[in-house]
Amino acid sequence: MKFFVDTAEIDAIAELNDLGMVDGVTTNPSLILKSGRDIMEVTREICEMVSGPVSAEVVATEADQMIAEGRKLAKIAPNIAVKVPLTWDGLKACKVLSGEGNMVNVTLCFSANQALLAAKAGATFISPFIGRLDDINLDGMELISDIRQIYDNYGYETQILAASIRTVNHAYQSAMIGADVMTAPPAVIKSMAKHVLTDKGLDAFLADWAKTGQNIL
Ligand code: E4P
Repeated sequence: MKFFVDTAEIDAIAELNDLGMVDGVTTNPSLILKSGRDIMEVTREICEMVSGPVSAEVVATEADQMIAEGRKLAKIAPNIAVKVPLTWDGLKACKVLSGEGNMVNVTLCFSANQALLAAKAGATFISPFIGRLDDINLDGMELISDIRQIYDNYGYETQILAASIRTVNHAYQSAMIGADVMTAPPAVIKSMAKHVLTDKGLDAFLADWAKTGQNIL
């Protein structure tokens, strides 16, 4: 499973990238706001650091403007994936931008039918938002599972990018279902290393080690 990091914070990306945990990065207008950075500048810096796809999102709502913004974002670096929303205009923009050879990430997907349309429009990635479905008491994981089945039924090559991942359980279940990629905040990725029994076991080993009176170095 590929790991994308869902942030525009350079330091957090660098820390995970040094460990080989970063196959790509996703940003959105809210994450750009949170970073306090200029979109073109911070996106360029991320693209220089990470070799995999870096999603940069358009903010226009009409297809022509989305396409113009997408073309401009795509010029930042060869590894840009232009992110467009899953609206009818977004699908039109997806078709044109992917036809021009750009990677396109279709975002804000909340139904299997939307995902089917994105695949037909040539999306490189479809981003179903798990956490936001859970927020309204729907089952985000069921959506990942449905899209996996539909894409496999017909051999669509669009990659399922499990997004809006809020918990380690979301990450685990996405991997079990077979999402191609997950994008998660750095804190969630780091939490995946935690287990209460690891901490407990380490405490016991260290306590016994202290009693031996030995040193390794
Ligand atoms: C992904 O591309 C989105 O930017 C992100 O996963 C949204 O997550 P949120 O619902 O926690 O804001």
